[in-house]
Amino acid sequence: MPTVLITGASRGLGLELTRQYAAEGWNVLAVARDPDGATALRELAARHPTQVVPRRLDVTDHAAVDRAAFELRGTPIDVLINSAGTMGKGKFAELGLDFGKFGSSDFDDWMAVYRLNVMAPMKMAESFVQHVASSEQKKIVTLTSILGSIELNKIGGLYAYRASKAAVNAIMRSMAIDLGKHHGIAATALHPGWVRTDMGGPRADIDAPESAAGMRKVIAQLTLKNAGRYWMYDGSELPW
Ligand SMILES: NC(=O)c1ccc[n+]([C@@H]2O[C@H](COP(=O)([O-])OP(=O)(O)OC[C@H]3O[C@@H](n4cnc5c(N)ncnc54)[C@H](OP(=O)(O)O)[C@@H]3O)[C@@H](O)[C@H]2O)c1
Repeated sequence: MPTVLITGASRGLGLELTRQYAAEGWNVLAVARDPDGATALRELAARHPTQVVPRRLDVTDHAAVDRAAFELRGTPIDVLINSAGTMGKGKFAELGLDFGKFGSSDFDDWMAVYRLNVMAPMKMAESFVQHVASSEQKKIVTLTSILGSIELNKIGGLYAYRASKAAVNAIMRSMAIDLGKHHGIAATALHPGWVRTDMGGPRADIDAPESAAGMRKVIAQLTLKNAGRYWMYDGSELPW
């Protein structure tokens, strides 16, 4: 069976993707910064002991990412999914559009958002490119957000998060071009929808199982021809 590496597997969409890929028989390298504290992930791994392998890794620690890539050398990774993400300090789920207003920027927090949302997907791709290139499916997917769309931004606010997702969109577009050409890897940005997780909050449009099922379908249909786009979980395309 194919292998998927999923970051942010402790909860939210990373956990649900882990659950669904495991149910389909895939091997899942379930990356979390604290797998021991991730009860739901530990339970899932106990139910699928040969398939779901929790792995301790803080994806913002570049030396640790390199170490993990070295330890996994020779392991083909069909799909690398960067799901770990943050909106920074404060709770969008509670504050909605009052979160991240002009005049409230905390630039240390901006850096934390950038380290996870922008640099970590880049670092993971750079460190694991050979693992993906040596697999059968050869795909790299980063969960972005509709809030990274410049075209669709009609209401302002949410500065750090919007900027980080617009940045990672640019990264995934370049990656699709470069890695497609040199390694036959299909890379893309993928918006999961507005989802009822800790991040999305209880008023969001859809639940995690629906989002993850849609995303898995988009990923299954990802090819070198339709890579480098701004896909949404339901298979539609967003404007940059
Ligand atoms: N939910 C939505 O409505 C929505 C909409 C658009 C885009 N997205 C994107 O989808 C992805 C997943 O979101 P989600 O809803 O699943 O979020 P979530 O429920 O808040 O989960 C966030 C995940 O990221 C990990 N994480 C947070 N900060 C981290 C850090 N500093 N270092 C390493 N890992 C860290 C968390 O690990 P810990 O458990 O260790 O904290 C957790 O696994 C994110 O990239 C998000 O931006 C979500």
